[in-house]
Amino acid sequence: MIERTLSIVKPDGVSRGLTGTVIGRLEGEGLKILAMKMIRMTKAQAKGFYKVHEGKPFFESVTDFMSSGPCVVMILEGEEGIRRYRNLMGATYYKEAEAGTIRRDFATDIEKNVVHGSDSVETAGYEINYFFNALEVAGG
Ligand code: CMP
Repeated sequence: MIERTLSIVKPDGVSRGLTGTVIGRLEGEGLKILAMKMIRMTKAQAKGFYKVHEGKPFFESVTDFMSSGPCVVMILEGEEGIRRYRNLMGATYYKEAEAGTIRRDFATDIEKNVVHGSDSVETAGYEINYFFNALEVAGG
């Protein structure tokens, strides 16, 4: 099934100059970029984005981190796009991520893990609509 997914190059990835590397890897995998922009979230916007994690011990910290600097957000599309992008990213905790994945190669801790990707069709729908309106989906 052709799926859309939301990708974020997180503040650590942008500040370390890894945006181009992430884009190169996802395009190399054959995922198509339908929309892309650089944003800087407020703390409240980061809380809204991660609302499924509200109440978890890392919620305050991850929302501080995600509002600490610019992110690059993208809509990706491809056959089994959600799974394929997650495979490119690797596990949330970089030490558990497979060799050759973005997180294994570049993450520095469980929070500063360079990239985010939607984990299901439902989540992808919420996350895409959180950042993009229909007019911004130039490649769709
Ligand atoms: P992400 O895939 O964007 O989803 C939630 C984020 O919270 C996760 O990546 C990490 O950046 C961050 N995080 C920090 N601690 C944890 C944890 N213990 N478990 C899951 N995510 C965590």
